[in-house]
Amino acid sequence: MAESIRILMCPPDHYDVDYVINPWMEGNIHKSSRDRAVEQWQKLHHVLKDVAVVDLVNPQKGWPDMVFTANAGLVLGDNVVLSRFFHEERQGEEPHFKQWFEDNGFTVYELDEDLPFEGAGDALLDREGRWLWAGYGFRSELDSHPYLAKWLDIEVLSLHLIDERFYHLDTCFCPLTGGYLLYYPGAFDSYSNHLIEMRVPVEKRITIEEADAVNFACNAVNVNQTIVMNKASDRLKESLQEVGFNIIETPLTEFLKAGGAAKCLTLRITEPVLEDVHANTPIESRILRMEGHLLDAGIMNTALDLVVDNGGSFKVLNFNLGIERQSTSVADVRVSAPSHQLMEEISRQLIDLGAVAPPQEVCDVKIETVTKAGVAPDDFYVTTIYPTEVRVNGEWSRVQEQRMDAAIVVRETNGQTTASCKILRDLAIGDRVVVDVDGIRTARKTESREQRTTQEFSFMGAGVSSERRVELVVEQIAWELRQIRDRGGKVVVTAGPVVIHTGGAQHLSSLMRNGYVQALLGGNAIAVHDIEQALMGTSLGVDMQKGVPVRGGHRHHLKVINTVRRCGSIAQAVEQGVLPKGVMYECVKNNIPFCLAGSIRDDGPLPDTEMDLIKAQAEYARLLEGTDMILMLSTMLHSIGVGNMTPAGVKMVCVDINPAVVTKLSDRGSVESVGVVTDVGLFLSLLVNQLEKLTSPYQLS
Ligand SMILES: NC(=O)c1ccc[n+]([C@@H]2O[C@H](COP(=O)([O-])OP(=O)(O)OC[C@H]3O[C@@H](n4cnc5c(N)ncnc54)[C@H](O)[C@@H]3O)[C@@H](O)[C@H]2O)c1
Repeated sequence: MAESIRILMCPPDHYDVDYVINPWMEGNIHKSSRDRAVEQWQKLHHVLKDVAVVDLVNPQKGWPDMVFTANAGLVLGDNVVLSRFFHEERQGEEPHFKQWFEDNGFTVYELDEDLPFEGAGDALLDREGRWLWAGYGFRSELDSHPYLAKWLDIEVLSLHLIDERFYHLDTCFCPLTGGYLLYYPGAFDSYSNHLIEMRVPVEKRITIEEADAVNFACNAVNVNQTIVMNKASDRLKESLQEVGFNIIETPLTEFLKAGGAAKCLTLRITEPVLEDVHANTPIESRILRMEGHLLDAGIMNTALDLVVDNGGSFKVLNFNLGIERQSTSVADVRVSAPSHQLMEEISRQLIDLGAVAPPQEVCDVKIETVTKAGVAPDDFYVTTIYPTEVRVNGEWSRVQEQRMDAAIVVRETNGQTTASCKILRDLAIGDRVVVDVDGIRTARKTESREQRTTQEFSFMGAGVSSERRVELVVEQIAWELRQIRDRGGKVVVTAGPVVIHTGGAQHLSSLMRNGYVQALLGGNAIAVHDIEQALMGTSLGVDMQKGVPVRGGHRHHLKVINTVRRCGSIAQAVEQGVLPKGVMYECVKNNIPFCLAGSIRDDGPLPDTEMDLIKAQAEYARLLEGTDMILMLSTMLHSIGVGNMTPAGVKMVCVDINPAVVTKLSDRGSVESVGVVTDVGLFLSLLVNQLEKLTSPYQLS
């Protein structure tokens, strides 16, 4: 017997499943057999007495889960951090365990009452004593971990539990003698799995399958080379034996009904302190302020969900709820994350939602200089479509040329600060780029309940309309188009060849003739098929009148490409009278600028198609400047390209027959986007009809 190792257990005199606080308890209330439980506990006790000294704490009536002593607290040397149970059902155990620790000479540390931490159930020492693995996500709060580090003077590595079946760290994770680790990766988020892989070399990691995990194979007691557990598959036993462990299986099925097994039934109370190990925790916290219609716009839910989904935790410090219907609310939230990297990620996402640092913590942006052309500093801030401001020398400046997926470059000339978005490839050596997340704020429109309801009715919000609502949406779009045209605004159309195949060319031509379109963006295909239709009456070889393929029609598009190439350009084909009608003809005749961006599948291409994609992207960006509305007509490729270049505030109408494409295009979190799932030819015809109905000084022809 190893005299130096002591384990605390609690006889199961009052054990039963009396309530449901984890998924294992569901359906098991009062279903465990007292006799069998006592027998199983005694067997475990007997096995453990061979490898360690077992101390007992007196069971208390009314606290059935006291049998799970792992949750009494976390011991290191003579110190113990007492548990603060998450569920009321177990909180009554705390004073009894505290008494036992005090009676046995431990110094007891206690967390605030509202900071849950469930002892050695959620905190497991590396068996070499080098650091503490601490779990959070279900029972223990991440914010308890810095206290563990401070009080026990040890490095704490935080692991995020994401599968509610494995609600405590010791249900899915078991550090073993010699630096080995037995664990179930499916119970952790990807960051935690990465952390485990960084700390434990591959030859020391023993991962288990779900079948072993649900038998609580990780809920094992390890004393030197012995591992005691409920049950293990032959495969698992073999892999543990291969690295020198001796497995003892002892059935604990009655305790599984309450979500516990061997490890849960024990608390190791001799945990030696290593001289050269000291406190360290990479956990970061920061306070962020959210302001706006936090509840009725769902911002608060979204914000708190994203903190948790990214492996962080939060505490709402103040929440001043706007009393009047129109007034906004303000909340200060303390966000914690297990590492600097995750803190930055969470902060970025919260800033995108409009979060700012509270006034006392506002600071300037951090800037780093570009040292290699076209390459940003590692932690550069990636822009979104939302209007953004950066704080330089105590002053906020609005970022110019707002777009998605760019870096922010700050210039200071003659005491004047300017900031603008620059895509990576345009970064030049010496450019001063904003890094991290300090001193950045974005403005999201904060609509009141009324504004939102009206907008949803009038423009269907950021939703995707169903077929039966198409006509209503078209009416609204027609109204918007009229208003934009009448005030001299700008509408850009991005269109794919389907517009031509579905008979939409005549309607798009009509919109162009009548001043509703100020630029056309597309690929080689829209122009090729439009010109094919204009010159040969077919689109992709299909007769547009009869809807049937024409003999030899598959060669038509190549013939028209050849014709335009002979003319020199689309404009010259129009001027020479070769191209008499169609969408491209209207562009030339009505001085509507267009850009055809090349792609790998292009035939020809037409002389106007820009095959240098960097030039094409720059031309798209130029033509999109100052746009009020973009009509995205059945081209996923070009519409996504355009969407990325467009700041919030520009209305985007995405028309596609495929709901998934529409959702993808209109789901930019912007209320300005609307999706229409329908045939694009039908949409254009309805739109032109609707515009005709609107009284106008112009007449649609
Ligand atoms: N001959 C050529 O040169 C040639 C031919 C075809 C495509 N291309 C090029 O390939 C690239 C991608 O082409 P793309 O933009 O056509 O393809 P894409 O896949 O990006 O988009 C086509 C979209 O049209 C939608 N659609 C299909 N039928 C529809 C209908 N009846 N109503 C509404 N939406 C409908 C689809 O769901 C799809 O999302 C472009 O650059 C294009 O110029 C070249």
